[in-house]
Amino acid sequence: MADLEEQLKAAQAQRFRIIVTDGVFSMDGNVCPLDKIYELAQKYDAMVMVDESHSAGVVGQTGRGVTERYNLRGKIEILTGTLGKAFGGAIGGFTTGKKEIIDMLRQRSRPYLFSNSIPPMVAAAGCKMVDIMSETNELQDKLHSNTDYFVAKMKAAGFDIKPTESAICAVMLYDAKLSQVMAAKLQEEGIYVTGFYYPVVPKDQARIRVQISAAHEPEHLDKCIAAFTKIGKELGVIQ
Ligand SMILES: Cc1ncc(COP(=O)(O)O)c(C=O)c1O
Repeated sequence: MADLEEQLKAAQAQRFRIIVTDGVFSMDGNVCPLDKIYELAQKYDAMVMVDESHSAGVVGQTGRGVTERYNLRGKIEILTGTLGKAFGGAIGGFTTGKKEIIDMLRQRSRPYLFSNSIPPMVAAAGCKMVDIMSETNELQDKLHSNTDYFVAKMKAAGFDIKPTESAICAVMLYDAKLSQVMAAKLQEEGIYVTGFYYPVVPKDQARIRVQISAAHEPEHLDKCIAAFTKIGKELGVIQ
């Protein structure tokens, strides 16, 4: 935030300023400090754009994302999101925000103007998903209880997991090769996870990212935890 403030000061001569941030950071699972970002945006007359791809449907009391969590709904100029994560796994994404900006994007956004649009059934499923979210918090609550369950059991097994407020659980390994070997062995156990290493994450911060879903039942989570425990012991990650 201190550096952001410096950049905003340095950009005061420009006509417009925009702060762009992830809502939930995709490699750690942490939520951006949107309250502080918004404060700085107000102070230095900047617009804010938040990518809610990992936070929409997940963060905030009714899953409306970080703007809901920080009570800033309607205050952020541009929000982007994907239909490919919490919103059901389909292809496609969206941009929403202040009307003037959306009007301009309809004229100027190249993917919008020059690409085939998303299939109608995907758009319809996206609309239905918003209806479902408006009716009940059931899936979102289940996602969070699944994540809490997974993190608690994995920590008890001895794994090092980054603090998360989303569906993302980063199992820290700190070794690039190990992250690849372990992910491959987990896939052999029927667990679909991906190992990430530099430059996708900082040097020596290699990890396996696990994404929990509301579709997971306790037996799925237990199977995953058992596989991590087995392979983790085999590779000397845990005792
Ligand atoms: C932070 C973030 N934004 C956007 C996207 C893009 O989503 P899509 O796969 O729908 O293009 C991703 C995908 O992983 C992401 O992690």
